[in-house]
Amino acid sequence: AQMKMDDMPGMDMGHDMGAAPKSAAMLPEGEALRELPLLASETGTAGLFKAKLTAQSATVRFAEGLDTPILGYNGTSPGPLIEAVEGDRIEITFANRIAGEASTIHWHGMPVPADQDGNPMDPVAAGTDRTYSFDLPEGSAGSYWYHPHPHGKTAEQVYRGLAGAFVVKPKADPIPAAYGDTVLMFTDLRLAADGTLPDNTMTDLMNGRVGDHVLVNGQKNPTLTVRFGTKRRFRFYNATNARFLRLSFDGAPMTIIGTDGGLLETPVAVDDILLSPAERLELIVSFDRPGAAMLTTLDYDRGWMGPGRPADAGLTLLTVNVSQTQADPVPPLPDRLRPIVQLGAPAVSRRFVFTETMTMNASGMEMGFLINGAAFDMKRTDVVAKAGQVELWEIVNKADMDHPFHVHGTQFQVVEHERGGKISKPAYRAWKDTVNVARGETVRLLLRQDRPGPRMYHCHILEHEQLGMMGIVDVQA
Ligand code: C2O
Ligand code: CU
Ligand code: CU
Repeated sequence: AQMKMDDMPGMDMGHDMGAAPKSAAMLPEGEALRELPLLASETGTAGLFKAKLTAQSATVRFAEGLDTPILGYNGTSPGPLIEAVEGDRIEITFANRIAGEASTIHWHGMPVPADQDGNPMDPVAAGTDRTYSFDLPEGSAGSYWYHPHPHGKTAEQVYRGLAGAFVVKPKADPIPAAYGDTVLMFTDLRLAADGTLPDNTMTDLMNGRVGDHVLVNGQKNPTLTVRFGTKRRFRFYNATNARFLRLSFDGAPMTIIGTDGGLLETPVAVDDILLSPAERLELIVSFDRPGAAMLTTLDYDRGWMGPGRPADAGLTLLTVNVSQTQADPVPPLPDRLRPIVQLGAPAVSRRFVFTETMTMNASGMEMGFLINGAAFDMKRTDVVAKAGQVELWEIVNKADMDHPFHVHGTQFQVVEHERGGKISKPAYRAWKDTVNVARGETVRLLLRQDRPGPRMYHCHILEHEQLGMMGIVDVQA
């Protein structure tokens, strides 16, 4: 899994060391925000969600006169929104119609059996179908997503358009229905002058692909109009391959009510948020005064190798027009949302050290993204764990850039961050499946896998995952 620069397909050694090519296209802004299309269940039966997702080529007109070939689930990108309820049985047939490429559907963050989780060991060949089935346990409400996970192709299939949101609702929701519930999926687009999606360059492989346009539900800086006094519930998804999103809602207060794995215990008011690739947050935004409220990016230095660090501050991702008309009064946000039990004392503790290696030799430069000194090997089990046992995982980032750590099949609790000898506790207890581990930082987390089988853990900068920053924990019954 080590990479030699001159072996990389689609790379021009003479030109690609520099900044990513700049997009020629201007994308229209200010269209009305589209809600994601909802995937309908084929059964009228409550408790059974049955549907089909086809990964296929599609064409999108992002900019006037430019047709962009993409991949989409059921032809759309982001894919259709799946909404189910705790306790539901899910049966989704995946039809892989990507020309000449295997794929899978991975249910990111969801408590599904290992053999239903779209692992790279279980590819679905081009032109074939397979059905994924699983039950959503009680207490599993949260903001999950789905995306491909085939060996060596994940990064590319995701930036070509394959990703969708999967929201599991609780049976009884403590958040007032009057706030609505809107998924905002952030993706990152780079368009060549001819409207195509350029291949990854060397810079992309090192840092992860960062595009030129951050899109919300497939649109650039769309508009939402609300009355003043409105409170809205949003689920923010960072579905980009590698872009860190530090965001603030200029002109409207934000309150975090949930993370990857569902609601917090109590709401937490914040000025800004950091969403690393694959993380999600549930937020309540209060539009208290008429005017424009803009969701904008702030600078965040995530560590960057080589030239071409994208300017990521000052982009407007969404514009909310708050009208002069006052909204009908809405119920207040409750101050207790749900209890989160603390995972007990760990029976085992493990250490995972993330490093980057870069060596120059006669055949060019070799680069590796490693965990405990090794690159991913599909045939190797890195860790053996016991189902039902609490473990302490220590993720040590000795590399020069941030690496968002993700593990399949469960939700964990971060207990400690350590940086430069200083230990800090997270501001609140939460269920998460992805956590940023900043360069030079150690993150300690508690986790328990309840279902047996092989599970992947990896950096969710998808280019790093692809270049080896991934391992397998085999959970035994
Ligand atoms: Cu969303 Cu293995 O990842
Ligand atoms: Cu995952
Ligand atoms: Cu990484």
